[in-house]
Amino acid sequence: MAKLLYIKNAFQLVLEVPRTSLSGAAKAIAQRLRRSVPPGLERMSGFRIMAQIDGQLEPLDRHAKGTLERAVMSATGARVMSRGGGDELWLIGRRALGTIVLGRRLSRAAKPGPAGSLSPELSRLLVRMSKPQGGDVFLDPFAGSGALCRARAEWPARRVIGVDLYAEPRFDSPRAGAPIEFLREDALELPSVESGSASVVATDPPWGEFESFAGSAQEFYAAMAASFRRVLDPRTGRLVLLVSRKMEQLVADELIRAGFEGPRLVPVLVNGHPATVLNACPAEARDDGG
Ligand SMILES: C[S@@+](CC[C@H](N)C(=O)[O-])C[C@H]1O[C@@H](n2cnc3c(N)ncnc32)[C@H](O)[C@@H]1O
Repeated sequence: MAKLLYIKNAFQLVLEVPRTSLSGAAKAIAQRLRRSVPPGLERMSGFRIMAQIDGQLEPLDRHAKGTLERAVMSATGARVMSRGGGDELWLIGRRALGTIVLGRRLSRAAKPGPAGSLSPELSRLLVRMSKPQGGDVFLDPFAGSGALCRARAEWPARRVIGVDLYAEPRFDSPRAGAPIEFLREDALELPSVESGSASVVATDPPWGEFESFAGSAQEFYAAMAASFRRVLDPRTGRLVLLVSRKMEQLVADELIRAGFEGPRLVPVLVNGHPATVLNACPAEARDDGG
């Protein structure tokens, strides 16, 4: 699980106790650790303890923290590294869970891009939804800072192309398997992109929340759908589109009107904002069994 690049926080569950107060749970976990050492704490040389209850980081009172740290030290031989650098053991409580779990953190969030950009994890998830293949011509017509192109460039591709009319993308990719090209042009026209030449369009268009469209939202998304339909390969093209939840139906209708088939709607949260990923392909692709 920790190797799945689109997961931000993966934990191995070590043990769980009934949900009481945080300090009560810490002491109960310490007691359990004194009785036996559960799998999941092997090969740990240093650790620190964190607590998160219902999505919020919570301070753990000193006494309970000390009790738990001593129990972990004697169970594992590891030392406390309170400034980090070792493993992280988290006490996690979630609404509807009924327990507080002790989890060992397996993965760390990737370094975020500039403000306003999609997280590396969500970008990788969207790229995975596009079913990447080595021969792909990948296009992000609203590239912004370039997060999706950077995520796509981590896998082999024939071409990775970012387009933006206003923003200055950052296209250095630490694991670049493919160089990223940039076009400064209108995503609603894409004059330099030949019809049917793109294998994938994956993008995060303006949501109409901070920026206003020149005309109506419907006109904007209708022009966008027609532009993407033109550049996508009619037989094998794939479209992955991230829109605000409020716009999902309007965008889905415009995609169908432009000749896409059956957008699949996947709900996601983007920094807490309800959003939807629409996954579609040109109608001809389905007719061909493509
Ligand atoms: C929601 S942002 C994309 C953010 C991007 N996914 C990222 O991670 O940085 C939408 C982008 O579309 C660009 N944009 C708006 N209208 C455009 C148009 N007609 N053609 C091309 N780019 C446009 C904006 O400059 C902005 O960078």
